[in-house]
Amino acid sequence: MTELLDRRLIFITGKGGVGKSTVAIALGLVAARRGLRTIVAELHSQERVQGTFAQHGARFRELELVPGLFSISIDAERAMEEYLRVKAGAVGRAVGASRVFHAFALATPGMRELLSMGKVWELAQLHRRTRGAAPYDVVIVDAPATGHGVGMLRTPKTFAEIARVGPIAQQGRQIAAMIYDRDRTAVVAVATPEEIPVSETLSLRESLEHEHLALDLVIANAVYPTRFESDQVGVLERALARSEEPLARSALRAALSEHARTQTQRAQLDRLRIGLNLDGGVIELPFLFAETLDRAELERLADLLEVQL
Ligand SMILES: Nc1ncnc2c1ncn2[C@@H]1O[C@H](COP(=O)(O)OP(=O)(O)O)[C@@H](O)[C@H]1O
Ligand SMILES: [Mg+2]
Repeated sequence: MTELLDRRLIFITGKGGVGKSTVAIALGLVAARRGLRTIVAELHSQERVQGTFAQHGARFRELELVPGLFSISIDAERAMEEYLRVKAGAVGRAVGASRVFHAFALATPGMRELLSMGKVWELAQLHRRTRGAAPYDVVIVDAPATGHGVGMLRTPKTFAEIARVGPIAQQGRQIAAMIYDRDRTAVVAVATPEEIPVSETLSLRESLEHEHLALDLVIANAVYPTRFESDQVGVLERALARSEEPLARSALRAALSEHARTQTQRAQLDRLRIGLNLDGGVIELPFLFAETLDRAELERLADLLEVQL
């Protein structure tokens, strides 16, 4: 199997809030460390990624976060303007300037997704359509939440099938050819070790397979550390039963409840591993006890990803 960072296009999917954007950047840092010119493309304008690196403005432009690692926020309307400008010459420019056309095109079901996927594809080309733009070795896509993810991956193919002939069909086929090529495209799921994210990851895998796509890697994020062995837990429980000191009791209760949470997470991780039975396995990233995840924490997650990839 082609190594993850040898693919030009890597989709990061998962339920909202599990750490997709965080993992996308951490993976981007790993790629940049390997000397790969990398871009993280956020598919829903959020500004989160760029915000972390304290650079503002230029949201929809390619922005260098650290040497070799860029980010961009992809917006369907911008993508359409760019497409029309580059592809369709004077007519395209005139049409592109028409608000009515915009409203009409963007109201077409799936059109926003198609335009966004078109821009993602463009970023992954050796010869960039955008004038003066340099090529990337790796494009990491911070994709929308799980269910949405497969639909999005399928969009170019859907349009190709519906249009059959003409420029939309041709472009759709070209994009789909890349997405369905496992040497060029990878799909990574991020899940926290909890019931619902694990279930969604298992069903994501099924819907990908149904679509003749594959789940290449699963990253379990925000995993709690195992602090106590079972004999130590027994010691804590007995101490709690004996103690009458309020402060000691609350500390012991906190320790035991964190342990219980760790146990629940372990059970979910087992369920994930057994349910998936993946070649690439499941990579774990720890829960970082920090108020916000700044550069240092992201680099730390990158260190941990790097050794496990
Ligand atoms: N491993 C981690 N440890 C601690 N906090 C994390 C971790 N991963 C993500 N977070 C935090 O969880 C929140 C959601 O992460 P984010 O990457 O934005 O998720 P998503 O993109 O999936 O919605 C953020 O506040 C982020 O800083
Ligand atoms: Mg996000």
